[in-house]
Amino acid sequence: MTAFNPEDRGRHKKLILTWSITFLVLFPLLIVLGLLMRMNQGEVIKVDNATFYSYMTLHGLGMAGVLFSMAWAAVFYLVGTRYVKLNIGLGYAVFLLVVIGSVGLAVATLIGKFAAGWYMLYPLPFIGATWKAWTTGLAIISLIIMGVAWLIGCLHVVYALSREYGGFTNLIGWQYLGKKPPEKELPPLALIATISLVPGILAFIAGAAMLVMYLLQHLEPSLSFDALVQKNLMFFFGHTLVNITMYCGVGWLYTLLPEFTGREWKLNKLTVYAWNATFFFIVFAYFHHLYMDFVQPTGLQIAGQLASYFSAIPATAVTMFGVIAQLYRSKVKWGVIPTAFLLGVAGWAIGGFAAVVDSTISINKVLHNTLWVPAHFHTYMLMGVVLLILAFLYYLGSTEKNRDLSPKAGFGFWLFVAGAYGFLLMFYLGGMESIPRRFSEYASSGIAHTHDTGALLAKVAALFVALVLIGLLMMYGALFNGLLKKDQAPAK
Ligand code: HEM
Repeated sequence: MTAFNPEDRGRHKKLILTWSITFLVLFPLLIVLGLLMRMNQGEVIKVDNATFYSYMTLHGLGMAGVLFSMAWAAVFYLVGTRYVKLNIGLGYAVFLLVVIGSVGLAVATLIGKFAAGWYMLYPLPFIGATWKAWTTGLAIISLIIMGVAWLIGCLHVVYALSREYGGFTNLIGWQYLGKKPPEKELPPLALIATISLVPGILAFIAGAAMLVMYLLQHLEPSLSFDALVQKNLMFFFGHTLVNITMYCGVGWLYTLLPEFTGREWKLNKLTVYAWNATFFFIVFAYFHHLYMDFVQPTGLQIAGQLASYFSAIPATAVTMFGVIAQLYRSKVKWGVIPTAFLLGVAGWAIGGFAAVVDSTISINKVLHNTLWVPAHFHTYMLMGVVLLILAFLYYLGSTEKNRDLSPKAGFGFWLFVAGAYGFLLMFYLGGMESIPRRFSEYASSGIAHTHDTGALLAKVAALFVALVLIGLLMMYGALFNGLLKKDQAPAK
């Protein structure tokens, strides 16, 4: 059993505070980009197309990157203060590289107007781009830097856990599948972190290979690569990154919720089977992004639909039952932390359900590239991952005795949740009305219904986004107070 001394915990606390404050600063700025996009689509403001798409690119890449980084950092903190010693210097190196990559992306998009969208659909960045070639190079290099940082960070956590718990098969819980009880309990966070970070490692390697090909073509324009291979690699990278961000959050839900309910949350055979299913199928689920690519082999399309179901349903189901078992008739005091955990799990389920609907081939034929797509992934990111992160941040800044929010911050929390669901509802309604995604404005669609409905929904959505921002800022006082308070014992 690893022994932790107070100095180690203090150093971990400083590192996680650095990550947390960076997150709290960047998150609302990225929301503002989303607000500007919705205001432009709602014809409240007018920005030119080059600017709109540069905002969309930075917003998409920025949100996915910031959320994953924060989720990884939270796992690093909890693992490193509870289960196994981790290298804090490496934690700072990851932070530095992610900051360098983020600055590069901000320069490429906000100054250079790089606007290829988060997935830079190959070979579009090299054909008739409206932005200068140097911005493409800068964006590619920035993403490579961030990818390398995440790769190192994930490898370190998995390697350290694997040494502590006697190898990889133990880390994925196989010792629970035999007749005898395991010799050493595996904490759920160790299992879920492994099941998230190992596919992440594969995705970062695939992403690096793809980005190096982009870079080679940027440096030598006579080169060209297979567009279908590039698209497969890009979606394996992007889809997996977003998916595992959610699972990291679920990992600390299993760890922290029991402190509020007073009930243990241990692994058993069923949980291990469910998370192993996720582990296997998660790497194939991204195929559902390529349903419209008729050159993709049909077998992979069918595999995509099945893997989407099998990777999402078992882990979600065991976690839902776990949360119910934790909460049912428990004496939990409904402060902000358990509330954010419960709502975060609900957001995961709602967004996940909408995603599974969209991953069904016959339905995808209708919903593909409509606003239904941003609707579902914004639900599980904004009302899933972000709520789990807020629960973690409040936990980090609190002690057992002071876990309640001030009435102002409590009001801010509910305003944030109400505003977010209002904003999401407009995306869902847009999807049901076949409003296309990634349109900077709807007048140029040439279809009166698309224009009138799309612009109206966007205008209403912008009002809800304003509530999200006000709610968030109202919570900030309590959050910063907690996080920056001196001499506070690090969370248990
Ligand atoms: C209140 C908060 C947010 C607002 C107002 C917002 C707004 C938007 C808008 C308007 C779009 C363009 C939709 C379209 O017409 O296609 C968009 C796209 C996107 N958003 Fe958000 N968003 C928010 C939160 C998030 C979060 C938490 C994430 C986390 C991953 C995220 C990731 C993305 C991504 C990946 C795209 C797609 C970009 C692309 O297609 O290249 N957003 N968002």
